[in-house]
Amino acid sequence: MYLTRLIYASSVTGIFNESSLEDILKKARLHNAKQGITGMLCFSNNYFIQCLEGSRESVNETYNKILKDTRHSNIVIIDYSEICSREFSSWDMAYVPATKNMEPINLKFTTSTEFNPYNISGSAAFLMLLELRNNLISV
Ligand SMILES: Cc1cc2nc3c(=O)[nH]c(=O)nc-3n(C[C@H](O)[C@H](O)[C@H](O)COP(=O)(O)O)c2cc1C
Repeated sequence: MYLTRLIYASSVTGIFNESSLEDILKKARLHNAKQGITGMLCFSNNYFIQCLEGSRESVNETYNKILKDTRHSNIVIIDYSEICSREFSSWDMAYVPATKNMEPINLKFTTSTEFNPYNISGSAAFLMLLELRNNLISV
């Protein structure tokens, strides 16, 4: 089974608060651990960007589940590739919340300081997630 990585962007629908996020992360981490999925979820400016790593079958199955979730919409695949190794192997689903600290990272990888994952190429999105992961490790 090939190891793959999928990155998508989406927009939050309706009211979204800490408890919505906790619910997502709790279920996601349980399911991902069973399916051998690792990755990272970032929420900022009412947008999500998420990276899923795992077997082709597990990533597809999980993405299809996520697609049906009405808590977000306008779900767009930004990048999909076969990979040699995981970058988020320590996390069933790492989480990066919206913070002011993201402004320099947004500026580095996009055209402005405002987070908008629809305006980012697949390769830039991947590099941006790696940078956020590195900040997470160093916190
Ligand atoms: C932004 C976002 C990210 C999510 N990420 C995951 C994930 O990584 N893994 C997962 O199993 N579910 C994830 N979910 C939740 C699923 O959409 C779904 O609600 C959950 O898996 C429970 O599905 P079930 O009730 O059919 O078991 C995510 C939902 C949202 C809105």
